[in-house]
Amino acid sequence: EWTTASIVDDQVAKIREQIGDGRAICGLSGGVDSAVAAALVQRAIGDRLTCVFVDHGLLRAGERAQVERDFVAATGVNLVTVDARERFLEALAGVTDPEQKRKIIGREFIRVFEQAERDLKAQGDYRFLVQGTLYPDVVESGGGAGASNIKSHHNVGGLPEDLQFELVEPLRLLFKDEVRRVGLELGLPETIVHRQPFPGPGLGIRIIGEITHDRLETLRAADAIAREELTAAGLDRDIWQCPVVLLADVRSVGVQGDGRTYGHPVVLRPVSSEDAMTADWTRLPYDVLEHISTRITNEVAEVNRVVLDVTSKPPGTIEWE
Ligand code: XMP
Repeated sequence: EWTTASIVDDQVAKIREQIGDGRAICGLSGGVDSAVAAALVQRAIGDRLTCVFVDHGLLRAGERAQVERDFVAATGVNLVTVDARERFLEALAGVTDPEQKRKIIGREFIRVFEQAERDLKAQGDYRFLVQGTLYPDVVESGGGAGASNIKSHHNVGGLPEDLQFELVEPLRLLFKDEVRRVGLELGLPETIVHRQPFPGPGLGIRIIGEITHDRLETLRAADAIAREELTAAGLDRDIWQCPVVLLADVRSVGVQGDGRTYGHPVVLRPVSSEDAMTADWTRLPYDVLEHISTRITNEVAEVNRVVLDVTSKPPGTIEWE
């Protein structure tokens, strides 16, 4: 029978076979997938795994602290945190095309892991790179049977061609609900296992237009408010995720106090889904939408309009880029 425990045993055996007595680096994003992948590999090879958390500046508020606190507390894993904010901003300067953004982000992640590998040389040879790639990521990046490239997930289609690492991808055949069960089986806390998905390229693919420091600050503030209000309304487990998207190149006229404003809109994209392959837009209660809208327009200076995305997937995708 195909139980969660048997998936774990099976994957642990496969990982041991692949890595042997070698060492592995695992990029942690703060999301469920990389956390579960890391926990599986840790079970297989113990402290020959080192996790690397890359702060690429495209994170949501509080993300870095959460990984440093919750994940390390639950697993006791070796963790290295790299501040790569400037590096990513420089690499992304002037870029507006979604696929180009994804490829740059995927490449920069690898460059940071390569640097970490050199820094860890004294401990031994880190030849393997663990990624929390799921089945839907593979399919949508064009890796599955008959699928076309919808978007290059940063850890699949976004990898550089001169990749030196050998990849370890223990979740490659699993869907998100299975990954969550594996996480619970491995003893990860609910705060990690039931986190809503957040894409590796982070806020970078939620700013429509060029990514700049100021735009990131604006989006981070709006996103934090939306998350606070959804949590306060007790809706976290009812929605799959709710991207907040900044239309950075769009402006509209507004009025605040007795002055004219000319600010940017943000889009709320609440979705319900089983596996992210298809999704429906979530009918959020009007009073929750109202709270989010009022707070964002009051508290985030650059934003003077909040709009709601009522598109299913298909034809929309969940993320705007
Ligand atoms: P889309 O936008 O393709 O998103 O409908 C499906 C799910 O995948 C997440 N997503 C990503 N996750 N790297 C990731 O780790 C990526 O490059 C990436 N792109 C999309 C998205 O948040 C949604 O849950």
